Amino acid sequence: MKKIVIDPVTRIEGHLRVEVEVDEGGVVREAYASGGLFRGIEIILKNRDPRDAGLLAGRICGVCTNSHFRAAVSSVEDAYGIELPKNAQIIRDLIAMALFIQDHVVHFYHLHSLDFVDVTSALQADAALALEEAKKYAKNPYASSLSHYEAVLLKLQNFVKAGRLGPFAYGYWGHSAYKLTPEQNLIIISHYLEALKFQTELSKAVAIFGGKTPHPQSIVVGGVTSVADMLNPQRLNDYIFSIKEAKEFVDNAYLSDMKLLAAAYRDEIKAGTGRGAGNFFSVGGYAFDATQQLFSSGVVYGHDFSKVEEFDESKITEEVDRAWYSADGEVCYTDLNDDGTLKTAKSDDKYSWIKAPRYNGEAMECGPLARVFVSYAKSNELIKPFVDEFLKDTDLELTDLSSSVGRNAARAIESAYICEYVFKLVSDLLQNIKHDDTQTWAKYEFEKLPHCAKGRAFFEVPRGVLSHFVSIKDQKIENYSVIAPTTWNASPKDRFGKRGAYEQALIGIKIKDTAKPLEVLRVIHSFDPCLACAVHVIDAKGVELGNYKIKSVSCMV
Ligand code: NI
Repeated sequence: MKKIVIDPVTRIEGHLRVEVEVDEGGVVREAYASGGLFRGIEIILKNRDPRDAGLLAGRICGVCTNSHFRAAVSSVEDAYGIELPKNAQIIRDLIAMALFIQDHVVHFYHLHSLDFVDVTSALQADAALALEEAKKYAKNPYASSLSHYEAVLLKLQNFVKAGRLGPFAYGYWGHSAYKLTPEQNLIIISHYLEALKFQTELSKAVAIFGGKTPHPQSIVVGGVTSVADMLNPQRLNDYIFSIKEAKEFVDNAYLSDMKLLAAAYRDEIKAGTGRGAGNFFSVGGYAFDATQQLFSSGVVYGHDFSKVEEFDESKITEEVDRAWYSADGEVCYTDLNDDGTLKTAKSDDKYSWIKAPRYNGEAMECGPLARVFVSYAKSNELIKPFVDEFLKDTDLELTDLSSSVGRNAARAIESAYICEYVFKLVSDLLQNIKHDDTQTWAKYEFEKLPHCAKGRAFFEVPRGVLSHFVSIKDQKIENYSVIAPTTWNASPKDRFGKRGAYEQALIGIKIKDTAKPLEVLRVIHSFDPCLACAVHVIDAKGVELGNYKIKSVSCMV
């Protein structure tokens, strides 16, 4: 067995170390995903005013800022039993929808695409052939013209001539696992550069109702503060314009690039490269009315899409057997040898700051792929046509999406249907305003709220299921706990040795060159890791997550 350590994995948020053990044939037999960054935002939250929870929890991550902000405020609202006005609900959803698209686009192009795309190969491309190639995957390819591809080629050549590859430095260029033709490489790189400009447009969309981004500031306990923005037609128009721009990019670049990848990496997809155990869950959400919501909730085990169980939050547990905490929640770092050098993970060691959440005792995968699978299996009529069209155009089956390429395809599919349906939310908002409903805040008197309460919030956010749990005592936060999407996906093993989703997805992949483990990065990046989000301290008294289901309790907490 040979050990390969990638530390840190770059082009992600936060610090992740991945170790794999490969046999003589280069096949991965064991894997360890390790969150190497200790954070303690929950400690900072203790003894604070619950109304400040959102602003503080938003600082858990510099990327997922709005997701934590909203979940924290919602968990406090849940504790106090505060019902949101409909306008506030819609505005929060509009901020979230813009964030989903922005996050997905940045993830693929700027954090992940270079695991599939060889920049140096693109230098050999013929611009005229690239123009023809792009038409195979999109009816109206994005920014596609001879002069456009020639300009991108010139830019790449100038990078190389100057001896500075800039954002393209340090790639495994020329690796035999790259499969795209020079023209295909050129097409996706041209979209990489376009997406750099275009993602600012989507950030504007987040900021229109969020006040700013990152770290939007317009969500308060009981509602939102963006009243003037909601009543200003120009602001709504600006939002709609940004989403329309996004739709053009998603339909004619992002989705078509996924079809291109699906064709080029078909063997890898069919071999199930990057496929995990097949346990998926989604908490659903983003409702348009009583019957239609963007994402369905449910649980699927072992890729069996014929059976979808209802999601039940009381089945969530957390373990720390392989994480750097003692059983009673004390920090217990064990990663240094006696001489101060760093250990490598062993079958019996603790090796991560990330706890091991389990659902019904199983390690789960959450995120866009889980949402697509669960929603499809529950015949969600909004998403089904998008999935069916993708499968038809690529001649793939549903289970094929359970792969590294498939996780990316799920993000593009999700972006496309969010772009389509977000306008329904905008028109719901306009209808409300038209009927003179301009309320954006549920009035309450803080002093009259229960002095002790417990609450929680579950949300689907770009990377998967995010849950915040708060307990309040004497109007101060007594305890706080977070399980982020990456906590699920990057989980270490549990006491039974069951691997987390990253680890399981790495088992069985073949590495062509152990000095350049491109195949490992391809699998890990396909999950869109956010390690800053993933690491959360355990409550020293032991958090009983099931207890948080009770909305308001007496002071016997
Ligand atoms: Ni994050």
